[in-house]
Amino acid sequence: MYMLSDKPLISAKQIEMRLDEISGQVQEFRPDLILSALTGSFMFTADLSRRLARSDLQIQFIKTSSYGNSTESNGNVSIEGIDHLDLKGKKVLLVDDILDSGRTLYCLVQVLQKLGASSIKTCVLLNKEERRIVDIHADYVGFEIGNEFIVGYGLDYANNYRTYPDIWTLKDDHGK
Ligand code: IMP
Ligand code: MG
Repeated sequence: MYMLSDKPLISAKQIEMRLDEISGQVQEFRPDLILSALTGSFMFTADLSRRLARSDLQIQFIKTSSYGNSTESNGNVSIEGIDHLDLKGKKVLLVDDILDSGRTLYCLVQVLQKLGASSIKTCVLLNKEERRIVDIHADYVGFEIGNEFIVGYGLDYANNYRTYPDIWTLKDDHGK
């Protein structure tokens, strides 16, 4: 059985303060388009994008999945909704929830390059550096975290916990 940690790993207040900082960095890139990888990044994308508000800043969503109902990636990345996007000559800010093995972000960047984006910067809420399998770094990172499975603020375990405003660690109680 999995259970939540006693208190949040990262509070909603901390997320807000950090978003104020990284949105300032992202402003300098001045993207034409925010491309958000659903589902885990929906809250992060909403909070980030309102801090970047500009009449000509576009936003589009794709859906990536690699996990199924477990806490370990199965290594296959699927991307939905990318075919109809017009990225030619655009400065794209790619937003994802977590950089874990790196497979998802790596795969997405390859595809965006192929589709003709003129410049791509990557932005993730959380980075698990020690879990990396594929050599990729994000340009903007909200928080560095260790090797733990986390939920809340859009992130799920088997599609649960996404609506929690804070970020929590999910612990295995080893049958207790
Ligand atoms: P990667 O392809 O291994 O880097 O995995 C990235 C995706 O796995 C993220 O976009 C998340 O959807 C999911 N993921 C990785 N770690 C966690 C976690 O701790 N909690 C919830 N989802 C996670
Ligand atoms: Mg997920």
